[in-house]
Formats: sequence, structure tokens, C-alpha cells
Amino acid sequence: MMPGSFIPLVCIWATCGVYGLTGTHNIPPSLRNSQQTLFIHTLNTSDSCGRRRRVSSLGLWSSSLDDDLVQLPVDPVRGNYIRKVKDCVFSHVYPTPFTSDVRLIAVSEDVLENLLDLDISVADTKDFLQFVSGGKSLSGFPPLAHRYGGHQFGVWAGQLGDGRAHLVATYINRYGERWELQLKGSGKTPYSRTGDGRAVLRSSVREFLCSEAMHYLGIPTSRAASLVVSDDAVWRDQFYNGNVKKERGAVVLRVAKSWFRIGSLEILTNSGEFHLLRELLDFIIEQHFPAIIQTDPNRVLVFFNTVVSQTADMIARWMSVGFAHGVCNTDNFSLLSITIDYGPFGFMENYDAGYVPNTSDDQGRYGIGNQANAGMYNLNKLLVALKPLMDNRQKQIASHILAGFPDLYYQRFTELFRAKLGFVGAREEDLMLIVSFLNMMEDTKADFTMSFRQLSEITDHQLKSPSIPEELWALHEIGRRKDFPAWVTAYLQRLRRNPDDSEAKRRQRMKTTNPRYILRNWMAESAVRKAEMNDFSEVHLLQKILQRPFQVQKMADLAGYSQRPPKWSKDLKVSCSS
Ligand SMILES: *[C@@H]1O[C@H](CO)[C@@H](O)[C@H](O)[C@H]1NC(C)=O
Ligand SMILES: *[C@@H]1O[C@H](CO)[C@@H](O)[C@H](O)[C@H]1NC(C)=O
Ligand SMILES: *[C@@H]1O[C@H](CO)[C@@H](O)[C@H](O)[C@H]1NC(C)=O
Repeated sequence: MMPGSFIPLVCIWATCGVYGLTGTHNIPPSLRNSQQTLFIHTLNTSDSCGRRRRVSSLGLWSSSLDDDLVQLPVDPVRGNYIRKVKDCVFSHVYPTPFTSDVRLIAVSEDVLENLLDLDISVADTKDFLQFVSGGKSLSGFPPLAHRYGGHQFGVWAGQLGDGRAHLVATYINRYGERWELQLKGSGKTPYSRTGDGRAVLRSSVREFLCSEAMHYLGIPTSRAASLVVSDDAVWRDQFYNGNVKKERGAVVLRVAKSWFRIGSLEILTNSGEFHLLRELLDFIIEQHFPAIIQTDPNRVLVFFNTVVSQTADMIARWMSVGFAHGVCNTDNFSLLSITIDYGPFGFMENYDAGYVPNTSDDQGRYGIGNQANAGMYNLNKLLVALKPLMDNRQKQIASHILAGFPDLYYQRFTELFRAKLGFVGAREEDLMLIVSFLNMMEDTKADFTMSFRQLSEITDHQLKSPSIPEELWALHEIGRRKDFPAWVTAYLQRLRRNPDDSEAKRRQRMKTTNPRYILRNWMAESAVRKAEMNDFSEVHLLQKILQRPFQVQKMADLAGYSQRPPKWSKDLKVSCSS
């Protein structure tokens, strides 16, 4: 496949500007909305000098009980059995506690301290372990499982919902940010279908490590607060080959500003629940899109426009680090355009626009180079879901907005890759330089991450020399191409056109854009294999290293994380069951 397939070939000019909808593109889902201060819990987290104090006991920590979320309609049926649910957004259902001992494997200090105002010492308490493993709920907040539907692999799949996730708290922190806390792997809900409501250790380790790693790469994502493992048996046919194995149940406490998905709205339209569709959309807009005015007759359109441009941004950012999500179904796509639902994801190693992380995805539907197309497909489904709330004129404009998606994506992609090559400002030759670099990478099967990284580390002088030093192994491969010197000449010429720049500045800048460490499959796999033998050292090491993916770290280099992937990793298959 050509690297061009990274970039959609259709470039339809966005028409939204004509309708006065510009300026809504970059609305950050900022939660500094004055209305939300109403819900700030009353805990005083300042000491007498006005310094912020953190809470070290969950008993003192209060979830936001008066959150508007609990005003949304809830399933009147309370029993925890699998059923078709109607006319509501959530079902009340408690997590199922493990019956064996649970053990805390890892926590994110940043999430605890800076998102949840919890002192890290809280992680040593029994209350915390019980809370994050689903053994105990916060008083006053009945846990919720969300009802949603979705298009999976191109087909309407009907009711899906949180089959193994429980929303266990909402919290407004000292900065006024509102966070939703969700357990994953915490037992059956009315939406479990044929599943057992559990998640196994290996998939939980991957989600914990990757969501945190993505955050530190600067990509909008859900976060992971903690990871626990139990001794409860969970049976999985890991490779769908009839080989059922006993594994252990694990739970991740994950945190996001919202867990609503495209499928959250789709199910309401699909079942004709238009009153509820409006109610849920109003709630989402009010909570997460504060720049959209309540009384604006075009608010649905402005909402759609925002989701379209933020989704373009999210996918372009995935591409900039070689991330393939793996399951871009409408129910795995956040309405806030943050990366959610880490399953059979993967980071591309040798450059391949056809890279598919889910080994069962034979058709490559969710291959890396196809993610923008998948995104556009999903946004089209979102548009269908929103149509009952639009008049004919608005529907027409919305179609134009959607048609502008490839262009928004293409612009964002180009911007990000310009920065990866160290360019300041935009020039005509940039795209050609980007595409030919990717082309050479593809031909030589060079490593995507390290090619860009080593280009950031190399001096102009080394770059011009007849052969790239061997230790810059990824770039060294590309350097063997006959057309490489010509590319270098054009590249250096372009760099000289950067205003107010120098070689040192350029390298410095590029090193903050091009990571040295990403969570390669083999690294995650190595950590998982050890974790399965109760050795969590590599989970901790990776967690630490991936917090500073742009900085050279001795420990990481010693562990081989910046080297060629080991031979055994070539045959590695990512399991699809989780
Ligand atoms: C919070 O508590 C500290 C120390 O107990 C006190 O000095 C401060 O005035 C309190 N702040 C508020 C806003 O009540
Ligand atoms: C995507 O959503 C579907 C439907 O809810 C779910 O079965 C699947 O586990 C999700 N994918 C991931 C990776 O969480
Ligand atoms: C992987 O792809 C296959 C084939 O399309 C699909 O059935 C399966 O659900 C996918 N796995 C996950 C975890 O989404």
C-alpha cells in the first residue's frame, strides 16, 4: 500500500465557514464552566497557607453526588440480568466483588494526585483497594452501567452497552475539572450479552500502560488510575482456536471527562426515543461543550461540527505516533474525541500503511492507514443519529460539514508531520518532503518511531555524510536508498528556510515532538508475561519510562526499548479476546 493512503485523496473544502460556523473548531472540552462550580464538593483541600492539600483517605473524599448525570433517566428494572433495556441512559448495577484476594499492581500518581486530589498514600489503604476492585462502592453513588449501541465492523449491532464496566463516581477536582471514574472488568451488567463481565490480566495491563503512555505522548485519551489483579479464574480462548485457558480477573479504574460514545446517541435514534436523544445531547453539550450556547438554534449543528474537527485531530495525532486503535466501531469512539477502549491496539513498528493490529481483522478494516476513513464512517453514523434533531436546511449543512472531514484531517496530519520533520511555518515543498520520507521508510521497512527520532538526534553534518552511523539504526536503513542524498539536500534546504532557527534549536524542537519510547507490542507482551508470574517489575518500569517518552533514559535503553525489536517479537500475535 502506498503511504498516500495515510492521507485521504478526496479533499473537499470545508464549507462550514460560509455558514458562520467557524471558530468552534478548537473548543477544548474545558470544564472551567461556571455552571460546574455548583457541583464542586465541599471538601476544603487548602491548608492555612492556601496550599492545596490532598486527601489521604477515601472516607474523606467525596464524589460529586449531586452531579447532573444522575438526573438522566435510569432503567426502572433493578435486577442484574441480561435484557433489552429501553427508555433510559443507565442501569443501576453494582460491581461483582472478586471472591479471592485482590492485589494492587500499579497506580498512576498523576491521576490520583492531580486529577482526583488524592494523596498517593491513599493507595496503601484497604478502602482504596476495595473501591478500585469493585468490592465496595462509595456511599450515596449507586454505580451505573451505560446503555449504548453501535455499528461494529460496518454492521448495526443493536444494544451493546457497558458489559463489564461500572461508572462508580463522578468527581470535580480543585481545578474545577469534572471526571468520571469507571471500573472495567468489574462483573456482569444487563449489557453483558454472552460475556462474563470480567477482564483478564494481560488486557488490563495493556490498557493501563497504553492509556497512560498516550497521555504523555500528548494525545487526548482516557486515563488509568489503578490496576488490580485477583485470583478469580476467568476462562478465555485467547486466540479463538479452541484452546481455552484459565486466566486471572483484573480491574482497571479508568478516568475520563466523559464515557459517552457515538453509540450512546445512535441507540436512542435507532429505537425512536427522540425525547431522550434530545435530553442526552443537551446534557452532553452543557457539560462538555461549554462554548455552545444553550439557545442557539443551530446548536446541534455546532456540536456536530466540533466533533468532526476534534475527531480529525484525534486520528491525525494517532497517525503522528503510529498508533492503530484496532476497533474503530462507533461504540468505541468517544463524543469528546478522546482515545477510549484500549483493546487490540498496536503501535506500528516498521512503516506499513496497511498495518493491522488485530490479527483477526483479516480485511484490514481498521488498519492504520484506514483510520481516517473509519472515522468518517463513524461521523456519518453520528450524523444519522442527530438527524431527528435537525431541520432540512441543517441536515444539508451537516452533510457539507462531514464532507469537510478529509480536508480537516489532511490539514492536521500535514501540520503534525511538518513538526515531526522540524519545519517551522508552511511551505509548498513540505508535503513532498513528508511523503517521500514515508516512501523511503516504507521501501526499506524502517522503524517509523525511530526514523523520526533519529532524524531529530542526528546533526546536519552526519546527515550529509555518505553513510548514516550504524547506531542510528532506523535512519541507517533509509540512508542506504539511492535517492536519500537528494532528499537530504532538499530537506536541509527547507530547514534553512525556517525563520529564526538553528541546528541546535531544530534538534531540540524535534526531540520534543518525536518520541524515543512508545509501547511496542513486544514491550507490553514482555511485561504481561512477567506479570502473569507475579513479577510486576516491567509494568512499573514501562509505566515510569513512558511518562517521559521524549527524554533519553538510560534504564530504557538498557532494556532495549530504543533498539531494534527482538527477533521473538516478529511472530507476536495480539490476542483479540480480553
Ligand atoms: C481551609 O482549611 C484551612 C486549614 O484548616 C483554613 O485555614 C482555610 O481558611 C480553609 N479555607 C476555606 C476556604 O475554608
Ligand atoms: C468496543 O465496544 C464493544 C461493544 O461494546 C465492546 O464489546 C468492545 O469490548 C469494545 N472494545 C474495546 C477494545 O473495549
Ligand atoms: C478483530 O477483528 C475481527 C474480524 O473483523 C472481529 O470479529 C473481532 O471482534 C476483532 N477483535 C476485537 C477485539 O475487536
